[in-house]
Amino acid sequence: MVSTLTPPMPPRVSWLGGHLDSFRAARLSFFVEMARSYGDMVRLRFGHRRVYLVSHPDFIEEVLVTKNHNFIKHFALRLNPLVLGNGLLTSEGDFWLRQRRLVQPAFNRSRLAVYAPAMTAATKRLMAEWRPDQQRDIQVEMMRLTLQIAAATLFGADVGSEAQVVHDALQVLQDNFLVRFNSLWPTPLWIPTPGNRRLVQAVRRLDEIIYRFIHERRTHPVAKHDLLSILLHARDEDDGNRMNDRQLRDEAMTLFLAGHETTALALAWTWYLLAQHPLIERRLVDEWHQVLGGRTPTFDDWPRLTYTEKVILESMRLYPPAYVVGREALTDCTIGGFHVPRKTTLLMSQWAVQRDPRFFPDPEAFRPERWTDEFQKTMPKFAYFPFGGGPRLCVGNWFAMLEMVLILATIGQRFRFCMPAGAQVTPHPTFTLRPKPGVPAVIVARDARAGSH
Ligand code: HEM
Repeated sequence: MVSTLTPPMPPRVSWLGGHLDSFRAARLSFFVEMARSYGDMVRLRFGHRRVYLVSHPDFIEEVLVTKNHNFIKHFALRLNPLVLGNGLLTSEGDFWLRQRRLVQPAFNRSRLAVYAPAMTAATKRLMAEWRPDQQRDIQVEMMRLTLQIAAATLFGADVGSEAQVVHDALQVLQDNFLVRFNSLWPTPLWIPTPGNRRLVQAVRRLDEIIYRFIHERRTHPVAKHDLLSILLHARDEDDGNRMNDRQLRDEAMTLFLAGHETTALALAWTWYLLAQHPLIERRLVDEWHQVLGGRTPTFDDWPRLTYTEKVILESMRLYPPAYVVGREALTDCTIGGFHVPRKTTLLMSQWAVQRDPRFFPDPEAFRPERWTDEFQKTMPKFAYFPFGGGPRLCVGNWFAMLEMVLILATIGQRFRFCMPAGAQVTPHPTFTLRPKPGVPAVIVARDARAGSH
């Protein structure tokens, strides 16, 4: 039976935009204030769209897991079909399921072990460019690094000098996303406004790179078992056809973009937090000293780098690179006892839920020690969901965890980062949660003998 209970609605700021103006002004604090003041299910209006903010872990589990069949991805992911097309992040139904089954083997445990050496090799190449006392933007450095790793491991390719092209193109995509999301009536993409023209250019640049990966592999087929080979050789179970170039491009583009930016952001936020918390950094250095003793970490070291993993979990709790996930109801249904009409957009914010004092005592504090086994067992499952959950759980979650652990331990044994006095870094929510204006820091060589500061 469908419930008739309706969630509370906060006063609207404007007749036309509803709550959109307050949301636009400060997305992160908007999520928190709405949840804390009006409860776990809040009814909002963004222009003509009915939006519910869902902030209780049990309700989120209903949406993402138990009742997932009742939902598709939300409108924001369809705002810009030029970029991701019908790839894994945006596709639905049987098509999505078929593609997911196809892509999944590239992220199996045995495959991850193969990727590990490429992850540390790329990290060492990056470190070879660094000089002590240099100032660098750590966010840009992490982005360059994870981009190289995604290209090498998933596509067997080298992006070399194209890192800047990808970086600039991503900036255009993020800016464009924000404009479109914030607009009541986004300008159709076929109208050549300056913003749309920049977007088309940016997509064209990314396409050139992706099509080059595909073309190189087609013209020089090699016995590789990476993601690109899996995609190139996959055949449809029903008609036996291979993916056409457009499908290949959509999947490859999705994995290329989803596979590097989020990880780079999580790392940038982690370095930022460590620069403010020397005692936590000290404990990390001790762990690396004990487990690795100065050598490069390997896949087999991963289970023993437990404190490193806790630091990453805690960093993604405070600064989740994906700070909100959304769904749209296909039919009327009930979530948390509330009636949810068809076509309602449900937003679930990691930023708000992961800072909720009901689930995380002293929620604003960076405290990796909280992640004991006991805590993880007793915490409501969806109080922490940096990788989403249910069938649409991030396909690259273990890839990302491994990559982050290896990068932190490889870099952290040789360098630390020192933020200039007075440097202000604030979270800037676009499609992902970016540090603004980046993470400017001075590279400091660690004393190798003591492994200390
Ligand atoms: C710290 C790093 C990462 C974070 C925080 C993250 C976060 C997420 C989240 C929250 C979702 C679910 C979105 C939703 O339910 O609407 C997702 C999905 C996805 N992620 Fe990640 N991700 C990360 C790394 C990666 C990596 C390394 C890859 C690939 C190499 C990847 C590929 C994908 C794909 C393809 C999906 C769509 C899966 C599907 O719907 O079947 N992600 N990610």
